[in-house]
Amino acid sequence: MTPLKNQLIRAAAKARQFSVSPYSKFKVGAALITNSGEIISGANVESASYGLTCCAERVALFKALTGGKRNFRAIAIVARCEGGPMPCGACRQLLSEYAPLAQVFVADSDHLKRIREFGVSKLLPFAFLDVP
Ligand code: THU
Repeated sequence: MTPLKNQLIRAAAKARQFSVSPYSKFKVGAALITNSGEIISGANVESASYGLTCCAERVALFKALTGGKRNFRAIAIVARCEGGPMPCGACRQLLSEYAPLAQVFVADSDHLKRIREFGVSKLLPFAFLDVP
């Protein structure tokens, strides 16, 4: 998993360059990998109407899903912050629904080799998964 981890973190770091974050200036990149090895990346996009902002994780996930991709093995997230960026609650919910088996790798953009790793189910236990 180590070469894959590093490869995915590098893809997230590359995607981060295209962050559209004029308000927070907090650039985040994310990259998903499918079980068949395809990588789909994205970055956060902000709006003057702040609440419309979309996190990098969701941009990558929506790109992947609407490109017909399923069965995700892992997602990497990179931003300039100590220990790497932890996904927000909304992204955890969507990852629980569409990438429940994925590993989540996070890294600080200044230390791409220092990767922390979590399972999606650990990040959001007891997720809401089915509309009754
Ligand atoms: N953000 C992400 O893209 N992913 C995260 O995991 C945390 C937050 C973005 C949203 C917003 O553009 C900026 O970071 C500040 O919250």
